[in-house]
Amino acid sequence: MNRSKIIRLMQGYHLNERGKKSDQEKGVPAPAAEKSINSSPLIKLPDPLKVKLKKSSVTKCLLDRRSTRQFPDSPVSTGELSYLLWAAQGIRKQKEPSLAHHIVKRTVPSAGSRHPFETYLIAQNVKGLKKGIYRYVGSKNSLAVVRAGPVSQAEVTKVACGQIFCGKAPVLFVWTAIPYRNEWRYGIEHAGKAVLMDAGHAGQNLHTACEALGLGTCMIGAYFQELADEMLKADGKDEFTVYMAPVGRLKK
Ligand SMILES: Cc1cc2nc3c(=O)[nH]c(=O)nc-3n(C[C@H](O)[C@H](O)[C@H](O)COP(=O)(O)O)c2cc1C
Repeated sequence: MNRSKIIRLMQGYHLNERGKKSDQEKGVPAPAAEKSINSSPLIKLPDPLKVKLKKSSVTKCLLDRRSTRQFPDSPVSTGELSYLLWAAQGIRKQKEPSLAHHIVKRTVPSAGSRHPFETYLIAQNVKGLKKGIYRYVGSKNSLAVVRAGPVSQAEVTKVACGQIFCGKAPVLFVWTAIPYRNEWRYGIEHAGKAVLMDAGHAGQNLHTACEALGLGTCMIGAYFQELADEMLKADGKDEFTVYMAPVGRLKK
């Protein structure tokens, strides 16, 4: 990619632009707001709003937040996981019964409420949850199994460009983007910027929620694209990895 293309990605609409019609303007139905479920039965998560917090002052959470890159060998709970998923991408408003063509509202803002992300977990040490790769199904406060069985620390570390603390974390959050959700409204040229800005909201909410629970995290932008996509069974074109975050307890 040359520099002008990268700069263009970061910029807004230009005054002289004659926008081509987006699929939305052409009357194409909106894409689904969440990936469909085609795996084994879903795993229900505890109610995130019933999870006990260690800190409830926003000021204190923001003051104490920092990147954590060392995690002791102790598990996180499914309640904590549920709270973190809800904070980062939870649905607070949806039209029943189907998400197929409707706008959803989540705990984070998103350009045009397009919410381009799917959230995956590499669960290595979660009490009450078998090791494996899962996808968050926010509409049902549940997890869908993507790959059963442990993922080796070496594989996760390799995906994260050799960052060992990612492989060792009890759980690694990985966000993919489905760019068409944004392209449908904004067109191909303007979708990318919104996707990347939205990723920051999920990351900051995860950080703040970790602080509230007494957990630690670190945002990860350094990963191998092909390896990460392959691990999640994402095709790398219509869905691809954009961000990661290992989560674990804080060292005493
Ligand atoms: C977009 C983004 C990508 C990042 N990628 C990595 C990474 O790959 N590895 C890492 O150790 N830290 C990564 N970080 C964490 C930053 O290094 C960290 O936020 C920064 O040093 C400030 O420290 P603090 O979060 O403790 O305030 C990333 C942070 C952001 C926002």
